Amino acid sequence: MRILVTGGAGYIGSHTARALLENGHKVWVLDNLSRGHKEAVQRTVGLDRLTIASLHDTDRLVQILTLQEIELVIHLAAFSLVGESQKQPEMYFRNNVGGSQSLISAMHQANVKKLIVSSTTAVYGTPSQMPITESFERAPVNQYGQTKLEMELSLEHAASQNDLAVVALRYFNAAGAHPNGDLGEDHDPETHLIPITLQVALGQREHLTIFGNDYATPDGTCVRDYVHVCDLAAAHICAMDVLRNGTVQYFNIGTGAGTSVSEVLDACRKVSGHPIPSVDGIRRSGDPDILYADNSKAVSELNWSPKYTSIEQIVETAWRWHSDSPNGYRSG
Ligand code: UFG
Repeated sequence: MRILVTGGAGYIGSHTARALLENGHKVWVLDNLSRGHKEAVQRTVGLDRLTIASLHDTDRLVQILTLQEIELVIHLAAFSLVGESQKQPEMYFRNNVGGSQSLISAMHQANVKKLIVSSTTAVYGTPSQMPITESFERAPVNQYGQTKLEMELSLEHAASQNDLAVVALRYFNAAGAHPNGDLGEDHDPETHLIPITLQVALGQREHLTIFGNDYATPDGTCVRDYVHVCDLAAAHICAMDVLRNGTVQYFNIGTGAGTSVSEVLDACRKVSGHPIPSVDGIRRSGDPDILYADNSKAVSELNWSPKYTSIEQIVETAWRWHSDSPNGYRSG
């Protein structure tokens, strides 16, 4: 299939683009490079398949979709930091909601009917029960989650109006790196737990600050569902088989298991062989105690299942990436 990946220069986008190529698809990337890396595109589809453009440039989107005879769009271009979204909500709404609406309009004009998009656990807010199923109420507690909820609502409208076939994958915590060691996580500034912890092992930070040790969890630290980025990428391939016109289908993409911050830290110590000092800090605003997926819908309907099922396996791939490329894509 001829596929356009928006945000294909980013962390999840680059792994998805590679998985698509490995499955025999023809892939183009659209990215404004505000957060993504040209080097990541060079290592996947190649720079001749990269268009540097804004999602807001609807005419340009129509042009690319038409010129390359695109049959399916995988839309991953979005801002995704909860803390940042609280400080700059307008920027998040403009990018995540406005950008998605521009894409929907361009697809309508170019008569492209298939769409797979990234959504997030953050649409569920702080559910009182675990694990989270797709039928839980959407009740985001931060602006990032709110933008993704509004994107989902826009898609529901477009699917019914334009006969669009949409699958929205609600990612849990993306983690790890490509086992080849040449694609991985490279954010500036970095805010995510595993890269920060491994940066301590590399001597780039003095310690890990644990954001709260008095949560209602077995060891007092927050519990999340860490899913390997290659497993996330594979879910997009599986989703291609279930697209149905006029519908938006939602799937949780997580392992179904929760891992605490302390357990992640232990795994990073074990894998890196470094003591990784930590200090107990105060809670980070907006962090729910515990979030993990019921992934049974993805397992039964997408025929998807995670290959990386232990946190050590996930951290091993991240460690390979961070230790081989301590400055991310700038390491060369
Ligand atoms: N944490 C620390 N210290 C740090 C960094 C993180 O203790 O220096 C803790 C956080 O408090 C949290 C856990 O590690 O409990 C994971 O934090 P991350 O920042 O790695 O990830 P989040 O769970 O905050 O967010 C991620 C994505 C979001 C998505 C969310 C869905 O970044 O886009 O998962 O669960 F919405």
